[in-house]
Amino acid sequence: MLEIKISNAQAHYELEFVSSVEGHKNEAFLKEMNFKDFLFAQVNKVLYIKCESFRIDDLREKASQAIRYAKKLPYQNFKVKLSQDEEEIKAILMGFYCGAYQFETYKTQKEDSRLIEVLIESDCSKLQEILNEIQIIASSINLVRDWVNTPPNDATPSFLAEIAQQESKLYGITCTILDRKQMQNERMHTLLAVAKASSEEPKLIHLSYKPKVSKARVVFVGKGLTYDSGGLSLKPADYMVTMKADKGGGCAVLGILIAIARLKLPLEVHGIVGAVENMIGGNAYKPDDILVSREGKTIEVHNTDAEGRLVLADCLSYAQDLKPDYLIDLATLTGACVVGLGEYTYGIMGNNAQLKRTYEENALKSGELVAQLPFNTHLKKLLDSKTADINNISSSRYGGAITAGLFLDAFIRDEYKEKWLHLDIAGPAYVQKEWDINPYGASGIGVRGCVAFAQTLCEEK
Ligand code: BES
Ligand code: ZN
Ligand code: ZN
Repeated sequence: MLEIKISNAQAHYELEFVSSVEGHKNEAFLKEMNFKDFLFAQVNKVLYIKCESFRIDDLREKASQAIRYAKKLPYQNFKVKLSQDEEEIKAILMGFYCGAYQFETYKTQKEDSRLIEVLIESDCSKLQEILNEIQIIASSINLVRDWVNTPPNDATPSFLAEIAQQESKLYGITCTILDRKQMQNERMHTLLAVAKASSEEPKLIHLSYKPKVSKARVVFVGKGLTYDSGGLSLKPADYMVTMKADKGGGCAVLGILIAIARLKLPLEVHGIVGAVENMIGGNAYKPDDILVSREGKTIEVHNTDAEGRLVLADCLSYAQDLKPDYLIDLATLTGACVVGLGEYTYGIMGNNAQLKRTYEENALKSGELVAQLPFNTHLKKLLDSKTADINNISSSRYGGAITAGLFLDAFIRDEYKEKWLHLDIAGPAYVQKEWDINPYGASGIGVRGCVAFAQTLCEEK
């Protein structure tokens, strides 16, 4: 990852965010150079970046664009003078770290950028503390991006289990992996049904971080579909491309655990990832099958492409045995959520208005775009099944993100209803055209929001 250092040493050039050309100390020069968005001025060695509003979200995005521009210049470093405003500093640093990311593992010819480091200066007394914090969160985001971007021929459920084990060792996290046999003993039959036709062994990853002092127990659950072909309800060819990103929720959970452990937050945190591949074959689970979930509820399968909720139902069941104070699942669950909210925003669902609001506020402040989607009893009825306790798809084509959330709700026990949040990250998990701090490919969405939420739990009480 890019190196950012606090230093007042000389650098090859300076970066300056310009709010307005009018009244700028170099107004005449900037006008003469026809400065619009970016300008690298050789004469005084300044990279000017237009940033009209100086709103936090704009600064983050501009910092990200600036770093991409700087990577193309033939210099090893630049310097930027930051204000004293903590939120401004955080946004700019996040923009630098995340904007500089590129997935090049599979390129035989890597881009050769000279840029190695960024020097920062500010009178803010918390500069070092902020730099450490943002470095930790951003490096988790970039790790998650690496994992999600890894193609499905390499990123199998076993691969996720391996990286979970390796990373845990580095940060004092305990990692337990359950294989097929152990999941059978756990009665996780709905998760195993999804995994049936795959030649890859399914894995249940359980990470736990238990500091000496803990203010709450938080359990994160992630959908880790290393590939979603749709199963026998096969996806059309065009829709199958990018389905390597169906592990986005699971990978985010791994990244969140690492960030929380490195930040040493006083919280007991668990991460449960259902790592499975949804494939076709003679032994595939079928539309019409009736499955018995870990919670004991029976599920009539009408569409094998609605597999994420089946995997999550059993993972959420396992997670509730850990007696969480907060239970949050992250999943690229429905195309309907993308249709409803657009590809930049993810959906928040649950039964506790206050909890949804707290999460929403923190996620927005962290720079993630979120919106609440409301449950109602009419949508819930659309999941009724004539032969089992519940159907895995709704009988209506409308409201699919919420009916998926309501399906999960059916597996949340009464005592955890108010403690649970469901995040449908299908929209922003994978980026087709770069936006904000996100280059093409996996975004690492969910990490910033969940870490920010965890941080506020530490402030309370
Ligand atoms: N993984 C998909 C959801 C998805 C779609 C994620 C687009 C990212 C981008 C999920 O498993 C799925 O296929 N859902 C179906 C549900 C339907 C069969 C009720 C969908 O959204 O079409
Ligand atoms: Zn699917
Ligand atoms: Zn899926």
